[in-house]
Amino acid sequence: MGLLFLSAMKPTPESPIGIFDSGIGGLTVASAIHHQLPHENLIYFGDTAHFPYGDKSAGLIESYGVGIAQFLLSRHCKMIVIACNTASAYAFKAVRAKVDSSVEVLNVIDPAARAIARNYPTGRIGVIATRGTVNSSIYPRKIKKLSPQTEVTSLATPLLAPMIEEGFFNNKISRTIIHSYLSKKSLQEIEALILGCTHYPLIRSEIEEYYKGKVAVFDSAELVALAVQESLQKSSLLNLGESIGNREFYVSDLTDSFSSSAAHFFTGEVALQKLDIWT
Ligand code: DGL
Repeated sequence: MGLLFLSAMKPTPESPIGIFDSGIGGLTVASAIHHQLPHENLIYFGDTAHFPYGDKSAGLIESYGVGIAQFLLSRHCKMIVIACNTASAYAFKAVRAKVDSSVEVLNVIDPAARAIARNYPTGRIGVIATRGTVNSSIYPRKIKKLSPQTEVTSLATPLLAPMIEEGFFNNKISRTIIHSYLSKKSLQEIEALILGCTHYPLIRSEIEEYYKGKVAVFDSAELVALAVQESLQKSSLLNLGESIGNREFYVSDLTDSFSSSAAHFFTGEVALQKLDIWT
């Protein structure tokens, strides 16, 4: 298993929550956590230098995830949230195994799988996600384990994350691409659709517009925020302070398009700072 990354300090309620993604899509999860738990200190890391993870090999994604976890532990995080479905699929086990057990590691797939199993014990559910997430079969595996009667059909939608990261949403181009994916045969006659990528909450309204209320749309950001709260409560690590938490946002490469899109993802001002953890 190799070396365990030890947290230099015992986690306290004031310790930050570390959140990471391949880019700025995980800011949708950071935003939900901030709204649910405004007193928490947050450190966000977007691995924009390696974006997208969706088409990378399992081994590479695992090594990126482990490297970022090591950085977050060096900043004394009390919890690590893998705010990327692709990294949750390929790096969660390695990160969990490497990180000292006093630090909880959460992924974005388990809370959505639990919600689907609870709400749709039978019936047909669709998942849209990166190629990597779809090829891992993680959603069907996790949902079927909890609810064997639920039928799960997945579609890789590799154009969506780069399109959103470049700021293309709520326009003609995004609508055309979204409609062409959602009209594919494999997604017909579904009762609910999981947005299996942390970028997709930004196109949720366009997806809902396509379905006109006939299909329920699930994104995991709020479900993850609730899971974070529950876990911190359990370990008595919830920050009960009065002031609004401190937020730091790092990316491994900074371009104008990342800077200008970031505010949409966090619903508010975000000052991205470039930080090279890789050399
Ligand atoms: N945000 C990532 C996810 O949730 C997808 C983007 C990528 O391909 O890196 O899967």
